[in-house]
Amino acid sequence: MAYDLLKGKRGIIFGALDSNSIAWKTAERVHEEGGKFVLTNAPIAMRMGQIKELAQKTGSEIIPADATSEDDLGNLVNESVKILGGKLDFVLHSIGMSVNVRKGRAYTDQNYDFSHKGWDISALSFHRVMQTLFKADAMNEWGSIVALTYMAAQRTFPDYNDMADNKAYLESVARSFGYFFGKEKKVRVNTISQSPTPTTAGQGVKGFDGFITYADKMSPLGNATALECADYTVTLFSDLTKKVTMQNLFHDGGFSNTGVSKEVMDNFTE
Ligand SMILES: NC(=O)c1ccc[n+]([C@@H]2O[C@H](COP(=O)([O-])OP(=O)(O)OC[C@H]3O[C@@H](n4cnc5c(N)ncnc54)[C@H](O)[C@@H]3O)[C@@H](O)[C@H]2O)c1
Repeated sequence: MAYDLLKGKRGIIFGALDSNSIAWKTAERVHEEGGKFVLTNAPIAMRMGQIKELAQKTGSEIIPADATSEDDLGNLVNESVKILGGKLDFVLHSIGMSVNVRKGRAYTDQNYDFSHKGWDISALSFHRVMQTLFKADAMNEWGSIVALTYMAAQRTFPDYNDMADNKAYLESVARSFGYFFGKEKKVRVNTISQSPTPTTAGQGVKGFDGFITYADKMSPLGNATALECADYTVTLFSDLTKKVTMQNLFHDGGFSNTGVSKEVMDNFTE
């Protein structure tokens, strides 16, 4: 169902790799709600991905940008404002990658070049995106910026590896930049802490299959899907959430506040 919540709004969506991606579902929902946007991803992901199909479907242009490159981001923001015909109202940062996870390095045996690269892509990139938008004065007043995160920033999930530290940093950047963006430009900045979701990035985490089932059984409402995450993001881009800022918002069916559930307990009772 569509509500025209984003009619007349313009933005940039980072991170749609394939139809499982949270960013892909968000692009589809934003389009249904009347929003216009530019799609972007790392140049290498464009060669592998199916983003052109999404662009066609949503009437969007694609501008490649590596989220670790200030030049790429500067070009992306300037070109997006031109293509869309005005300043931006929403930006989705849906980017994550750990080289240590990919190369199978344990948390207690990190390669720090890998750590540095993963942090640059997954965490510092959020600051870089916002600083680019801020300096270019590219956001309209009452605009909204959202990044995706995971609860390993607050509680330890051993196999989440160095992404836990990257997410803690990302959430801190949302608060810190949220202050300046709020004061000076009336723009809000939030992170959504999403349930485990079967995407390329999600499935890269060791033990994902067992973990997603565990999370589902622990959540009174069950895991939140990528499409439900897209719906929630639409509300944060809409004018109905103007004073929500500098928050880490759990979108996880209640997992984060559940100590134990009956289903999980049943596994331990005779
Ligand atoms: N899947 C989950 O279980 C889950 C749970 C909570 C939060 N998240 C977060 O959601 C976000 C989106 O991930 P997803 O699950 O949709 O997986 P995904 O693999 O579909 O998306 C990750 C995206 O990051 C992009 N990316 C990687 N390096 C980049 C770079 N240098 N520059 C620009 N883009 C780059 C990839 O190309 C890809 O499109 C990530 O921040 C992830 O950590 C995922």
